[in-house]
Amino acid sequence: MSDHFKQQAAERAADDVTSGMRLGIGTGSTAEFFVHALAKRVGEGLDVIGVPTSERTRELASGLGIRLTTLENLPELDLTIDGADEFDAGLALIKGGGGALLREKIVAAASGQMTVIADSSKEVAILGQFPLPIEVVPFGLQATSNAVLSVFDDLGLPQKLELRGGSGQPFVTDGGHYILDAHLEAIPQAQFLANRLVAIPGVVEHGLFIGLATKAYVAGSDGVKTVLP
Ligand code: A5P
Repeated sequence: MSDHFKQQAAERAADDVTSGMRLGIGTGSTAEFFVHALAKRVGEGLDVIGVPTSERTRELASGLGIRLTTLENLPELDLTIDGADEFDAGLALIKGGGGALLREKIVAAASGQMTVIADSSKEVAILGQFPLPIEVVPFGLQATSNAVLSVFDDLGLPQKLELRGGSGQPFVTDGGHYILDAHLEAIPQAQFLANRLVAIPGVVEHGLFIGLATKAYVAGSDGVKTVLP
């Protein structure tokens, strides 16, 4: 069922796209539904150019005939459409379940608007049930992990951090980094935590997206609703 809802939200977002738009194209299963819906419209004559947020999305979108470029060539975008792992009433998000958070955040920040597409299971009263991804450079991994844990300690958050993929075969991002997943249960001071995390040397980015989403299409059994921050 959730796939059906993801598809509905994605198709609603694709309806907003008009010819001439410069698009950021997200990553994940919901974003893939969007890519398919966009490709259908491109096949019908819609003229857009897209910047993908991952190699995975690049392959899918180019295979479906969507014209793509890079953020280097097109540093200002009109609209990014992307999924989320969690969102709250103010459209603060947790992203990065698929490991693309760094490019996703850079692309969203370069866009005038960001539309989140999600099924209603992603809506939460408070962020944090979904593990927060923290992207780190491999060099000094233990020291960086310790610094992250010390921030959690200061904020009274659970000290549970897992290297994605495990130490034998860590997951490597498109940028060549590792991901630490933090099991925080609830993040009452998301902006404060975000500020503390980015101040740690070795932390490249984290999955808290605050103040970036300008709209969400959320699909559930009652249809697709629009959420504004
Ligand atoms: C990718 O890194 C993520 O930020 C995804 O956008 C997020 O995990 C949502 O993915 P799904 O649409 O597959 O739930």
